[in-house]
Amino acid sequence: MSDKLNLAVIIGSTREGRWGPVPAKWIAEAAARHGGFEVDLVDLLDTDLPQHMTELDLWSRPGEPSVPVATLGERLHRADAFIVVTPEYNHSYPAPLKHAIDYYMSEWAAKPVGLVSYGGGAGGQRAAEHLRQVFPELRATTIRHTLMFSMYWEKFDENGRFAGFDEAEPHAKSFLDELEWWGRALVNARREAPLPA
Ligand SMILES: Cc1cc2nc3c(=O)[nH]c(=O)nc-3n(C[C@H](O)[C@H](O)[C@H](O)COP(=O)(O)O)c2cc1C
Repeated sequence: MSDKLNLAVIIGSTREGRWGPVPAKWIAEAAARHGGFEVDLVDLLDTDLPQHMTELDLWSRPGEPSVPVATLGERLHRADAFIVVTPEYNHSYPAPLKHAIDYYMSEWAAKPVGLVSYGGGAGGQRAAEHLRQVFPELRATTIRHTLMFSMYWEKFDENGRFAGFDEAEPHAKSFLDELEWWGRALVNARREAPLPA
């Protein structure tokens, strides 16, 4: 059995023409190279969650969830740690990301969340800070290190390559080290005793 942590990297934007998959794939590859993680790249665009929560799908109600709800739920349940990659939309994070977060509960609990943000001058930090308010309600913990890319559209070289990733590489190592520490600590804590109700 692998002693790697299962890491779900969530692409938080679903907009046509989005940039989100680029930083998400970059951090997913960095996490795979890091050595501590088995990575699952979760693209919310492919998950087909119902637009409106139905009684059957809602976590707290009886009945079988629909296939898309169950499939994403299993992927989140399997994860020992999360990285949420979010842009900033009107000083917060995108609605489809909130919808996906709200659809689940125990799947997030007692697990760490690392935040990667991007946007204009603030690098998506206002979106990241909003997520820091949301995850404790699901009993997930956001880690201190963040990675952010401000005004990313100004940082492509003549070959169309984004220069920001080279600069971010050392920070990515610290970010992943912290995420792994929390992930392992909480795996052990969950094994020892369930999170009290
Ligand atoms: C609806 C919308 C609102 C936005 N609001 C902000 C904002 O408040 N602050 C900011 O820095 N960038 C803002 N932006 C710029 C986005 O951060 C930028 O377009 C980014 O690429 C969006 O992520 P995506 O391409 O993955 O969808 C906004 C973009 C959109 C589409």
